[in-house]
Amino acid sequence: MDRTLLLALILFTAAAIAETDNNLTSRQPSWSTAVEESDLLPPDASVPDSDGGFSSMDSMLHWAISHSDPEKLKESAQVHEGLSPSELQKRHIEIKELMEKTKMLSDAELMKISISDLNNVSISLEDRYRALLELLELVEPLDNANDLNKLGGLYALAQQLNHSDPGIRALTAWVLGKASQNNPTVQQQVLELGILSKLIVMVKSDSIEEGTKALYAVSALIRNNIPSQELFYAEAGGLMLQDILRNASIDIKLRRKAVLLLTDLAEYQLENIDKEEPSVFNSQNLVKSVVDLTASTDLDLQEKALIAIKSLLQLKTTEARVFRDFCALGDALNRMKQLLRDLMTDEDQRDYVMDVENVRVEVENIFHRKLIK
Ligand SMILES: *[C@@H]1O[C@H](CO)[C@@H](O)[C@H](O)[C@H]1NC(C)=O
Ligand SMILES: *[C@@H]1O[C@H](CO)[C@@H](O)[C@H](O)[C@H]1NC(C)=O
Ligand SMILES: *[C@@H]1O[C@H](CO)[C@@H](O)[C@H](O)[C@H]1NC(C)=O
Ligand SMILES: *[C@@H]1O[C@H](CO)[C@@H](O)[C@H](O)[C@H]1NC(C)=O
Repeated sequence: MDRTLLLALILFTAAAIAETDNNLTSRQPSWSTAVEESDLLPPDASVPDSDGGFSSMDSMLHWAISHSDPEKLKESAQVHEGLSPSELQKRHIEIKELMEKTKMLSDAELMKISISDLNNVSISLEDRYRALLELLELVEPLDNANDLNKLGGLYALAQQLNHSDPGIRALTAWVLGKASQNNPTVQQQVLELGILSKLIVMVKSDSIEEGTKALYAVSALIRNNIPSQELFYAEAGGLMLQDILRNASIDIKLRRKAVLLLTDLAEYQLENIDKEEPSVFNSQNLVKSVVDLTASTDLDLQEKALIAIKSLLQLKTTEARVFRDFCALGDALNRMKQLLRDLMTDEDQRDYVMDVENVRVEVENIFHRKLIK
């Protein structure tokens, strides 16, 4: 059975069903600048069954819908909108039988198709996006991510980082990040491909989307991974973070991610105290850029900065007097105390503000203990 035909059939039915049962406009694909990784929980649609395919007709349909151009879907649905519910039902059953007969494509087969599309220089930009979006979803399960390299996927993705379209590069970084997340095998494979330095450079892209996704990928690649962290430091990753943290005109999402990554790296040191601390934590400027974030107008960023400071204070190589004199941490904490007290008058945010205040007090205590040490 030809895949295109099968997909066309599925899409046709999906369109008709979507238009009748649900409001299609509420189901548009989620590729937009507003999407954060955390928003991208796998749609229950794509939960694979044991042999890696889709668990049911419905999940395949959902997958197809979420991967389709909403405009085209609409068109297709309008063409067939004369279909009665019973005709639709009949169509539904036909396709179900067809799919049972032809056996569902496994995830590995779907990945192969997407990868071969990526390697095809003559496909349209739109199809390239689609192939990447498919991979973004397919690499979610650990087994699939582990198959990616074997199928030539990581190499194909690495090539996409050179694409002239920043959206393609951003989406590629996203897929790479998702595949490497909490996956030492893929982290190692990507490290061997030598693209970490490329991703670090991409973080500074003029395109916010590209920068954010590149930083997401960098974070996923170096998390709990010593060789990748060493390369990150060698490639001036610490300086890159510092540049982002101290520049208030940089997009807030990127700054939040940068401070989270720094916290992550510091936490890693705290959990592996026998490992020598990288010199980056010795940088007065880096520490100061984090302390200065407590004066940000964004409460979320302030909170993330506090959490970072809490970890930084506990490192062996950071010095209490740097926090006190060079960074004026004492003043910063007092300013924050006042600000939080003011914010607490607002009923709506009181609980959240209280949480931030608790972290602030914790930081204050750790700071004072470090000072008298
Ligand atoms: C679908 O939702 C859109 C936007 O929310 C609305 O304008 C439209 O009328 C809805 N269509 C149907 C068929 O409910
Ligand atoms: C590459 O893409 C073009 C355009 O979509 C298509 O006609 C061609 O068959 C594809 N080649 C391969 C090897 O899949
Ligand atoms: C991307 O392009 C650069 C410079 O043209 C080249 O050195 C590098 O090997 C390319 N990377 C990939 C993965 O093709
Ligand atoms: C701060 O970021 C903006 C926007 O990315 C950039 O144009 C500017 O050069 C940066 N400033 C410094 C001092 O790096």
